[in-house]
Amino acid sequence: MSTVSASVFSRKNPFPAKHVLNRRLSGASSKKETRHHELSLSGSGLCYEVGDSLGVFASNDPLLVQEIISMLGATGEETISGNDGSPKPLREALWRDYCITTPSKEFLAALVAKAGETAAEIAELTGDLTRKKDLENYLWGREIIDFLLTYPMLLWTPEEFVKCLRKLQPRLYSIASSQKAVGDAVHLTIATVRYETFGRKRNGVASSFLADRTGAGGVVPVFVHTAKHFRLPEDPTTPVIMVGPGTGVAPFRAFLQERKALGGGGQNWLFFGEQRRDSDFLYQTELEELQRDGVLSRLDLAFSRDQETKVYVQHKMREASAELFKWLEAGAHFFVCGDGERMAKDVDAELHAIVSRESACSAEQAAAYVEALKHAKRYKKDVY
Ligand SMILES: Cc1cc2nc3c(=O)[nH]c(=O)nc-3n(C[C@H](O)[C@H](O)[C@H](O)COP(=O)(O)OP(=O)(O)OC[C@H]3O[C@@H](n4cnc5c(N)ncnc54)[C@H](O)[C@@H]3O)c2cc1C
Ligand SMILES: NC(=O)c1ccc[n+]([C@@H]2O[C@H](COP(=O)([O-])OP(=O)(O)OC[C@H]3O[C@@H](n4cnc5c(N)ncnc54)[C@H](OP(=O)(O)O)[C@@H]3O)[C@@H](O)[C@H]2O)c1
Repeated sequence: MSTVSASVFSRKNPFPAKHVLNRRLSGASSKKETRHHELSLSGSGLCYEVGDSLGVFASNDPLLVQEIISMLGATGEETISGNDGSPKPLREALWRDYCITTPSKEFLAALVAKAGETAAEIAELTGDLTRKKDLENYLWGREIIDFLLTYPMLLWTPEEFVKCLRKLQPRLYSIASSQKAVGDAVHLTIATVRYETFGRKRNGVASSFLADRTGAGGVVPVFVHTAKHFRLPEDPTTPVIMVGPGTGVAPFRAFLQERKALGGGGQNWLFFGEQRRDSDFLYQTELEELQRDGVLSRLDLAFSRDQETKVYVQHKMREASAELFKWLEAGAHFFVCGDGERMAKDVDAELHAIVSRESACSAEQAAAYVEALKHAKRYKKDVY
C-alpha cells in the first residue's frame, strides 16, 4: 500500500471516491438517523491513520438549487463566475461551488440595500454590532431561500446574487475504520442532519448528500485530514480510555480495529452513550464481539432516554471512578470525541472530579493533574 505523501490527492485535488455502502445504524423507532458509510479509496494512493478525519466536498440539493433559480427568475443557463473565477452556468455554480443555505453578511447587506424599509428588522440587527446574539437568534433556522420567498419582489441578477454567497466548504468526518482491517476503504459514522423550521423541512448539506444523493456507486470527492493530536499511544500495550457518545464512537471503532490488528494486548475501555438501547446502540454486534474477543476490555453504556432521569457517559465515569483513576495511574491515555458544546465540557468536569475524589486532593491539584495529562499528550480530544 502506498503512503500519504505518494498520493496526488489532497484538499486541493480531492479524490473521487466511490460510495460503496450507506447503511442506517439507528433503528426504525429512533429519533435520529445515524448512518454507516463506506467509501473506496482504491487507486487513490491515499492512506490514513486511525484518529484522522476525512474531508468531504458535498454538492447541494438540486431541488433547492432549482427553487433558488426560479426565485431569481433565471433559467440556470446564465453564465456567472464560479468560486474559482472561471465562467460557468448558474445552475452548476449553485450546485457545487457556493453555500446556498446559510445567509452570508454580504447577502443580508445586499438584501437590506434592495428591500429598504421592508427589511427594517434585518437592517437593525445587522447594523448594530452589540446585537450579534439577537442576529444569531433571528437567523437560527432561516436559510437564503426563506429570504427570497419573503422578498419575492426584489430583483437579483445571477452574477450579483452569487457574489453575495460564500464558498461551499468541505465537511470533516472522523474516520471509523483502520486500514489494517479494511485496506483501501474508509468508513464513516454520520448523523444525518434533518430538522424543520418555519414550516420547511431542512437537510444538512453534506450529511444528506451522503445519505440521500450519492446513490450506489456514486462519487464523493474526499481528502484525508491528518489529526496528529488524536493518535493512539505508540506502545500497543498502553491502556486507553475512550469516551465517545453518539457519532463520537467513530474514531474509537477505528482504534479498536487497529488495536485488534496490532495484537499488542493493551487494555481498551469504551464509554458509549446514545438515546435508547433498542434503537441507538450503534455497532452493538461489533462491540459485543470485540468484548468477547478480549479486544474491548470494558464497555460502559449510557442510554440517556431509557429511564426517567438522563444518564450520560460522565455519570458512568463517576460510577467507575476508582477504576478509572487506577487506569490513569497505570499510564492510560484518555480520549474524548463527539459533541464539543456540552458533552466534552461535562466529561472534562467529571474527569477533574474523579481525580480530586480518588486522590483526595483539592480542585487546584486535580486541575494540575489533568493539565499534566494534557502536557504528556495522554488527554486527547476531537470534538465538534
Ligand atoms: C473534526 C470533526 C469531526 C467530525 N466528525 C463527525 C462524525 O464522525 N460524524 C458526524 O456526524 N459529524 C461529524 N462532524 C460534524 C460534521 O463535520 C458536520 O458539521 C455535520 O455533519 C453537519 O454538516 P451538514 O453539511 O450535514 O450540515 P450543515 O448544512 O452544515 O447544517 C448544519 C447546520 O444546520 C443548522 N441546524 C442544525 N440543526 C438545527 C435545528 N434543529 N434548528 C435550526 N438549525 C439547525 C445549524 O446551523 C448547523 O450548524 C465532525 C466535525 C469535525 C470538525
Ligand atoms: N441537528 C444538528 O445540527 C445535529 C444533528 C446531529 C448531530 N449534531 C451535533 O453533532 C454532535 C454529535 O451528535 P450525535 O448525534 O453524535 O450525538 P449527541 O447529540 O452528542 O447525543 C449522543 C448522546 O449524548 C447525550 N448527551 C446530551 N447531552 C450530553 C451531555 N451534556 N453530556 C453527555 N452526553 C450528553 C445524548 O442524550 P440526549 O439526547 O438524551 O440528551 C445522547 O444520548 C453534537 O454536537 C450535535 O449537536 C447536530
